[in-house]
Amino acid sequence: MTESLPAVSRTAVGVAALRAYESSRPDRLFDDPYAAAFVEAGRSVLPDAGRGGAQAGLGSLFYAQIVIRTRFFDDYLLGAGCGQVVLLAAGLDTRAFRLAWPPGTRLFELDLPEVLAFKDGVLAEQRATPACERAVVRADLREDWATALRGAGFDPAAPTAWLAEGLLIYLSYEDAERLLTTVGELSAPGSRVSFEHRPADSASSLFSRARETEGGEHVTGLWLGGLRDTGPEWLAAHGWQPSTVTRADVAAGYGRPSEDDAAAGGFVTAVR
Ligand SMILES: C[S@@+](CC[C@H](N)C(=O)[O-])C[C@H]1O[C@@H](n2cnc3c(N)ncnc32)[C@H](O)[C@@H]1O
Repeated sequence: MTESLPAVSRTAVGVAALRAYESSRPDRLFDDPYAAAFVEAGRSVLPDAGRGGAQAGLGSLFYAQIVIRTRFFDDYLLGAGCGQVVLLAAGLDTRAFRLAWPPGTRLFELDLPEVLAFKDGVLAEQRATPACERAVVRADLREDWATALRGAGFDPAAPTAWLAEGLLIYLSYEDAERLLTTVGELSAPGSRVSFEHRPADSASSLFSRARETEGGEHVTGLWLGGLRDTGPEWLAAHGWQPSTVTRADVAAGYGRPSEDDAAAGGFVTAVR
């Protein structure tokens, strides 16, 4: 089944490997009890995923980013105060299972069909039980995904916490813009949205470092740039009140000072 994972979805296995490593640390910033099972089940497509932990190759380049962003978005979603949550490109994200959601929370996971089938197969083997009302929506986020989301029970009148984690960079500017336009149309007042934000100099630094790392061209070859460095301005011009924070500041708050600020970037969070 893993062999059918599109290249862009294989990146989710790489992310799971780093979450598995972080979960094994005594000073972990989160505990993802299913990440290691995804890595094992995904060995045939990413044989080296997680082999070097956070020390080797792409793992060392992306480890701090993935770990800090995971915890940052955990805190964002739980603090958003919205009873409806949508994970755009959920990949192998297990927040539906591992976070302490307020009673009545409804969470929607969207991604390509292959990765969601792989994910649910592994979660079933692990006998995982969601800690909220979870709905899985198989959709290409470059196409009409809103109809499928509504069909799964999404309520546009209820404030929603949206998350686009590790997604926009894989979309063209036009596709990212269309996606966020639809998010805006489906967002009741009080809704929130968050995703990574990278100033231009930090983006080019990360790109060149990734390309220089063994195997890195498989990842950078998938990067289409998304909103590039315009995320906060784009949101402000489309009905949102954005604020940004650097990853270095977030990391320092978690007791994990960053050593590579040049490529760090940060996050944007916005309220409707
Ligand atoms: C790097 S992974 C991040 C997954 C997850 N958000 C996380 O942080 O663990 C990128 C995800 O984007 C998804 N993706 C990329 N392009 C997509 C598209 N056009 N429609 C739906 N999902 C897409 C991939 O399938 C993959 O699961």
